[in-house]
Amino acid sequence: MFLSLSGGPFLVWTLAVQLVLCGVYATDNTSRCTLHHKSDSQQKALHRLEPLTNKNFTVEEKNGEESYTYVFQVCGDAGGVPGAGVIQTNNKESGKKPTVIGMYNSTQAFGGSDWVMLMYENGDSYDAHCSGEKRKAIIMISCNRNTDVGQLQVVLEDRDKDKECFYLIELDSSAVCPALDSKMSPGSILLMIGFCLLAVYLVGGFLYQRLIVGAKGMEQFPNYAFWVEVGNLTADGCDFVCRSQNREESPAYRPMATEPVEEQPEERDDHLLPM
Ligand SMILES: *[C@@H]1O[C@H](CO)[C@@H](O)[C@H](O)[C@H]1NC(C)=O
Ligand SMILES: *[C@@H]1O[C@H](CO)[C@@H](O)[C@H](O)[C@H]1NC(C)=O
Ligand SMILES: *[C@@H]1O[C@H](CO)[C@@H](O)[C@H](O)[C@H]1NC(C)=O
Repeated sequence: MFLSLSGGPFLVWTLAVQLVLCGVYATDNTSRCTLHHKSDSQQKALHRLEPLTNKNFTVEEKNGEESYTYVFQVCGDAGGVPGAGVIQTNNKESGKKPTVIGMYNSTQAFGGSDWVMLMYENGDSYDAHCSGEKRKAIIMISCNRNTDVGQLQVVLEDRDKDKECFYLIELDSSAVCPALDSKMSPGSILLMIGFCLLAVYLVGGFLYQRLIVGAKGMEQFPNYAFWVEVGNLTADGCDFVCRSQNREESPAYRPMATEPVEEQPEERDDHLLPM
């Protein structure tokens, strides 16, 4: 009764929330990224980065004499450069146009339980390295519950080879952490409903017995007589199952006591009847 009453509205709510989510899904800021190979799983991985959109993430890298600043944005113009997801500016050559490492109209996204990997391709071509191929950025975003957004880090620039060169960038964020509440299994939900029903029964019954019936003391427990009976029957059952030696039977084995033997089967049957 209780279940069927609350079940209907609950279903409607779930549906409504899902509809709203779908609506948000289609128009969120991550949809500005163009996926290389459009697929459901890539779209889902990308969608997890929505809290990180509309922000410039910046880091300065010093390497001996050289000093570069990298700017990264999720599906937005990094450092204001149109179409660029990651850019690099040479701090020694101010005024020079930034180098585009990857474009967000050429995105790939992969997601694991506590990380999302973003790949921006189609950047500016290398001059001398990597057979002059186009630059590419791989951004690894890992779960860290202690921070909304951590510090951007350039891990390496892998460019001393013929092709498939890339810049590897890291970022920590709580945005890609798995949801904690999704750990509740159907079993524990059922258990919780059970406890709630029990509590409602106890409190409701208690109030009913006290206020309407006017019971006192132990009698205030709902269906007191019934539960006492259940308790007694359970005790009888335990007694019957667990006792290794029957209370009444044992005297019967005494060789001297011949008389009571005939009476006893009946007597024992009487005890078994309520079982
Ligand atoms: C991007 O997100 C903001 C809120 O953070 C929202 O107001 C805006 O409409 C979104 N833009 C697009 C293109 O979805
Ligand atoms: C990112 O940086 C550029 C250049 O500094 C700026 O024009 C742009 O408004 C910034 N975008 C955001 C979302 O802060
Ligand atoms: C991305 O945009 C640039 C210019 O903004 C264009 O040249 C390029 O073809 C686009 N790439 C894709 C895959 O759409």
